Amino acid sequence: MQRFENKVVLVTGAGSGIGKGSALRIAAEGGAIFCVDLNLAAAEETAKEISAAGGTALAQACDVSSEQQVIDCVAACVEQLGSLYAVINMAGMLRFDDSRELELAKWQQILDINLTGTMLMCREALPHLIKSGGSIVNAASTAALSGLPCGAAYSASKGGVLAMTRSIAVDYAKQGVRANCVCPGDINSGMTQGIDWPKTMDFDLMPRIMSISGPKNPEAIAGVIAMLASEDATHITGEDIRVDGGMLS
Ligand SMILES: NC(=O)c1ccc[n+]([C@@H]2O[C@H](COP(=O)([O-])OP(=O)(O)OC[C@H]3O[C@@H](n4cnc5c(N)ncnc54)[C@H](O)[C@@H]3O)[C@@H](O)[C@H]2O)c1
Repeated sequence: MQRFENKVVLVTGAGSGIGKGSALRIAAEGGAIFCVDLNLAAAEETAKEISAAGGTALAQACDVSSEQQVIDCVAACVEQLGSLYAVINMAGMLRFDDSRELELAKWQQILDINLTGTMLMCREALPHLIKSGGSIVNAASTAALSGLPCGAAYSASKGGVLAMTRSIAVDYAKQGVRANCVCPGDINSGMTQGIDWPKTMDFDLMPRIMSISGPKNPEAIAGVIAMLASEDATHITGEDIRVDGGMLS
C-alpha cells in the first residue's frame, strides 16, 4: 500500500512509542514525515530510521504546549516539505496523583501538553488541511471513556481531546477535513515504563487499565492511525477507536 505517496504528514511525539510507530508506518506507505518532539535527538533518530529505509523525513524540536513553537513548527513543515496532508497528534504526558494532593502546577502541565498542545497543532494545521483535504488523528485514551485510577488530570485532558476533536470534525466536514481520535490502552511505550504511583494507589483497580490479551507494541495501533489518516477513512470523522485489547469491552 502506498496510501501516503506525495503526502506530507506531521507527527508529534514522533520520538517514542505510538508517535514513532505511526511515523514509521506512514513513511513505509510513502508519506514524507515531519517528525516533531520535545526531544530532538529522539525525533532525529526516528527520521534517520525512515531515511535509512528509503523514505523521506525531517526532525523538528517543538514543545507543543508553547504557542509560538507550534506556530513556527507548522510553518517550518510547510516551508520545508511543501504542504501538509495530515497531523498525527501523539505528544503527551501521563502522571498519577491522589486527587487530594494534585498540585495545580502539575494539573496545568498535563492540560497544557495533552489538551492545549493538541489544540494548538490543530489550529495551526487546519488552514493547510483545508487546502489539501486532509485530516487529523488525535490521541485520546481509554481514560477519556472510563475512570482511570489516580488519573483525574490525565483523564480530564483526554476527555477534552475527545470532545474537541468531535467539534473540529463537525466544523470542517463541509470543507473536506476529517478529525478522529484513537483511544489507546496498554500499549508498551516510554509512558508505560517506570510509572511513579502515589502511595494511596489501590492496585485492585489495575485491571481497569490492563488489556485482556496483554500489552501490545506500538505497531498494534500504528496501522489504525494510518487508516484514519488515509483516504480509506474518507467517510469517518468525529469518531474514536479504542485500541485496548478488550480493556473496556
Ligand atoms: N501507551 C498507552 O497505552 C497509551 C494509552 C492511552 C493514551 N496514550 C496516548 O498516546 C500518545 C502517545 O503516547 P506513548 O504511549 O507513545 O508515550 P511516549 O512517552 O512513548 O511518547 C510520548 C512522546 O511525546 C513527547 N512529548 C512529551 N511532551 C511533549 C511536548 N510538550 N511537546 C512535544 N513532545 C512531547 C515525548 O518526548 C515522547 O517522545 C500520548 O498522547 C498518550 O497520552 C497512550
